Amino acid sequence: MLALEVENIVKRFVDDSEPVPLWQRLLGRRPRQVAAVRGVSFQVPEGEIFGILGPNGSGKSTLIRVIATLLLPDEGTVRIFGHDVVRERTAVRQLINRVSVEAAFFKKLSAMENLMYAARLYGLPVKEATARAGAILDRLGLPRKKRVIPLEELSRGQQQKVAIARALMTNPRLLLLDEPTTGLDPKSKREVQEFILEAQREHGATVILTSHDMEEAERLCRRVAFMDEGRFVALGTPAELKAQFGAHPEQSLEAVFLACTGKGLGDEAEADRVLEEVSA
Ligand SMILES: Nc1ncnc2c1ncn2[C@@H]1O[C@H](COP(=O)(O)OP(=O)(O)O)[C@@H](O)[C@H]1O
Ligand SMILES: [Mg+2]
Repeated sequence: MLALEVENIVKRFVDDSEPVPLWQRLLGRRPRQVAAVRGVSFQVPEGEIFGILGPNGSGKSTLIRVIATLLLPDEGTVRIFGHDVVRERTAVRQLINRVSVEAAFFKKLSAMENLMYAARLYGLPVKEATARAGAILDRLGLPRKKRVIPLEELSRGQQQKVAIARALMTNPRLLLLDEPTTGLDPKSKREVQEFILEAQREHGATVILTSHDMEEAERLCRRVAFMDEGRFVALGTPAELKAQFGAHPEQSLEAVFLACTGKGLGDEAEADRVLEEVSA
């Protein structure tokens, strides 16, 4: 069964970098629009972890927000387990959950309290919620005494794991993770990645994640799409993409991205390193 079907999604925003002066607006000039997503199509079968990779500003978060029913598409359709995100928003919302980089939390509340709060929002009975929160925190490996202290006293990695744990409270069939490991140190990153893999295995959820970490994508995703300037410029398993762009199997996906788009991901130093790797 298909968990997600995205067809020709276009999403435009008003370009507020050049505001239209009032007198021009009175003459009928409309503000310029820029398309953040320019006709993206793809399908994801149930149970897959699918990665959307691209540099900052390539449209990843906008696409995720359209899939998550938080933004209306200007063109195209998205179906989640057959339900249309625009016409069947309520049904869709019961099937999905989204975790974004800037995960909103109650930092003064503990991990346990945050999970219980999420459960209340979704109308889960208290007894069931307590049991499920306990089980999820066990799996997350958060020691008992850390579950009851304010979230702000946990490491960033632990906080991010709690954010994912909170999304799992509602047993989503489609989990949307927008840059789940951005800004984490390598060790926390590893732990969060482990947790995503485990959660996917245990809940059987389908996962769509965005990243600009190619190593992460290779570790977690069965297939990935390269996104650049609002478009998917390549899509396949990491091995397929390497073959398509003439990279060795042991070369990094970053090199493949560079070969495909002429761009690096992430920071300059990283791009230099990749350039060296490609020209070597
Ligand atoms: N609410 C918004 N209003 C105007 N422009 C936006 C808005 N959200 C995103 N954009 C623009 O759309 C483009 C894609 O942004 P985004 O989807 O956040 O990319 P990414 O997540 O890949 O970094 C960027 O140029 C960004 O400035
Ligand atoms: Mg983003």
